[in-house]
Amino acid sequence: MKSTEFIALETEYGAHNYHPLPVVLARGKGPYVWDVEGKKYFDFLSAYSAVNQGHCHPKIVKALTEQAKLLCLTSRAFYNDTLGPYEEYVTRFFGYEKVLAMNTGAEAVETALKLARRWGYVEKNIPEDQALIICCEGNFHGRTITVISMSTDPSSYAGFGPFTPGFIKIPYDDVPALEKVLTEYGPRIAGFLVEPIQGEAGVRMPHQGYLKKCAALCKDHNVLFIADEVQTGIARTGKRICCDHEGVHPDILILGKAISGGVLPVSAVLANNDIMLTIKPGEHGSTFGGFPLACKVAQAALEVVEEEKLAEKAAYLGEIVRNFLSAIPSKRIEQVRGQGLLNAIVIKPQDGTEAWDVCMTMAKNGVLAKPTHQHIIRLAPPLVIKESQLMQALEIIKASILSFDT
Ligand SMILES: Cc1ncc(COP(=O)(O)O)c(C=O)c1O
Repeated sequence: MKSTEFIALETEYGAHNYHPLPVVLARGKGPYVWDVEGKKYFDFLSAYSAVNQGHCHPKIVKALTEQAKLLCLTSRAFYNDTLGPYEEYVTRFFGYEKVLAMNTGAEAVETALKLARRWGYVEKNIPEDQALIICCEGNFHGRTITVISMSTDPSSYAGFGPFTPGFIKIPYDDVPALEKVLTEYGPRIAGFLVEPIQGEAGVRMPHQGYLKKCAALCKDHNVLFIADEVQTGIARTGKRICCDHEGVHPDILILGKAISGGVLPVSAVLANNDIMLTIKPGEHGSTFGGFPLACKVAQAALEVVEEEKLAEKAAYLGEIVRNFLSAIPSKRIEQVRGQGLLNAIVIKPQDGTEAWDVCMTMAKNGVLAKPTHQHIIRLAPPLVIKESQLMQALEIIKASILSFDT
């Protein structure tokens, strides 16, 4: 079958909840993917940073296939011989006493919200049903009703109300705004939820010191600092988690995507005992959360991050990306920004062409990326990309952008 036929099938039988580039992928390896016609591309989206370890990493695939022959799913009605060892590994890896295993990023965010509320009632003595959680404008934390109740992006929330109450939205990267609501509502506030970099909003970077100041304010007001590192975590920005850049250890850490190297939906919420043990048996869970396949895959994926020094690589290659892109002499580039290998080009729309058109040209030339919003192109290749491969891809991106100047 040809690409056009696969696209026709999705259009006919699938919900129209995405607007993909017209490329039909059939195979991936490391930083590359191939379409059904055999054309090879650099993957500069990495499944929204889920494939940091590269496509079909042999160690992760081996962990998956070996465990698949033994035991895939038991549910949490019984113990199994993979969950405990993984829990020990992941908690030591990130420096927490406990982990709660879930599947998707949105579920992990939901879990963190429940945990913060529960902690608020049990430990902070917030009156029943009065707990508040502060979140940031421009956030993206997933797609469930409660999660979109925090959203300020109409394409996420419009037409899906009524929404979950209990959230206060403040501007992102605004320490005084946080201080104001903490002063005003402090005794009712259980947590402050923040993305260290707003990925979906277009790789929006806060000022240096923002996270540190927010964490300190939260501590002063006995409020949990909750970091959503579903996109920024697992070496993407040049550290194990993005908060490491500011020496911040979140009270609750939310991880997803690349914790499994993009092989299975695996997410995790990490916290210490005083927070995590406020949820008792039977009060939260998921059929698949912490299933044996996920445990083996996630442990292998984290081992790859260490063995291949992916955080250090992302930091080193990220500098190259930003220097290269900033030097492109194009009137269409308004700004280049990012950290590690999570970067973005802000494109100036002109003559009816937008970021989408630039991405289409890049795809034609062999680099896949997708616009976020109308004018921003996120560039997030797998972290296993070699410097020589990265340079090839950057030359393609440069030529593609410059072709719009003529
Ligand atoms: C910061 C952040 N949180 C949560 C999510 C939701 O993750 P999932 O799509 O696995 O539910 C995403 C997805 O892009 C994300 O970027």
